[in-house]
Amino acid sequence: MTIAIDGPAASGKSTVGERLAKALGYLFFDTGVMYRAVTWVALQRLGSVEDEAAVTRLAEVVQIDVQPPSQNDGRQADVWVDGDDVTWAIRRPEVDQWVSRVAAYPGVRQAMTQQQRRIGLRGKVVMIGRDITTVVLPEAEAKIYLDASVEERARRRYLERKARGEEVNYEEILESLRQRDHLDSTREVAPLRVAPDAIVVNTDGLSVDEVVQKILAQIN
Ligand code: CDP
Ligand code: CDP
Repeated sequence: MTIAIDGPAASGKSTVGERLAKALGYLFFDTGVMYRAVTWVALQRLGSVEDEAAVTRLAEVVQIDVQPPSQNDGRQADVWVDGDDVTWAIRRPEVDQWVSRVAAYPGVRQAMTQQQRRIGLRGKVVMIGRDITTVVLPEAEAKIYLDASVEERARRRYLERKARGEEVNYEEILESLRQRDHLDSTREVAPLRVAPDAIVVNTDGLSVDEVVQKILAQIN
C-alpha cells in the first residue's frame, strides 16, 4: 500500500507521516527536501533563483541523496547534495523565501516528479508533499490532506525553531507561510489542492497522536 499526504507548510505532514511510516514499517519520504535542495544549490552556485533555465538544468543534474539519519540532532533524514550534507542548510530562511519560486518552474517539477514516482511505485511508502495525492501518486491507496489555520501553523514553526535555539519572529514566520501558501496553491503546474478522493484532516487543536490515530482508523 502507498500513503500519499499533502497539505500546506507546518500542517504536520513530516511529523505525522514519519509516525505513520514507523507504525506500519514503511519507508517515509519527504519530497519537500528535494525542492529545498535544488533551491539551496541554485542560491550557492548561481547566486539567485531568477534564471529559470539555469535552475532547471541544475535540477536535472544535481544528485540529491536522502538517507536514514546519521546523527541524533533532531533530523528526520540526512540530505546530501553532490556529497555535501545540507540537512540543516535547506531549512534556512533564505531557502524558505525562494523555494516556492523554484517549485513553480515546470522543468524542475518534471525532474523531481520522475524520481519521486520511481520511489513511490515500489509501494510500502508514506510520501508527503504538495502534489503527491494529485500528480505524483494519484493511484495511492490512501490519500490524506492535512490542514490547520495559518496562525496555528506559524505558532508550530515558531516553537520548533525556538527549541532549536534559533532567533525567531512570529510575524515574519506568519508572513512567510502566507506567501508560500499563496504561491504553492496558485502556480500553474501541480498546485497544492485537495484531491477529490482525499480524506481531509483539520489538525487545529489536535495533538500529533490524535491525528495519527485518526488516519490509522481511516486506513484500517
Ligand atoms: O516543511 P514545509 O512544509 O515548510 O515545506 P516543505 O514540505 O519542505 O516544502 C517546501 C516547498 O517545496 C513548498 O513550499 C513547495 O513550494 C515545494 N514543494 C512542492 O512544490 N511540491 C512538493 N511535492 C513538495 C514541496
Ligand atoms: O511537514 P510539515 O511542514 O507539514 O509539518 P511538520 O514539519 O511536521 O511541523 C509541524 C509541527 O507542528 C511539529 O513541530 C509538530 O510537532 C507540531 N504539531 C503537528 O505536527 N501536528 C499537530 N496536530 C500538532 C502539532
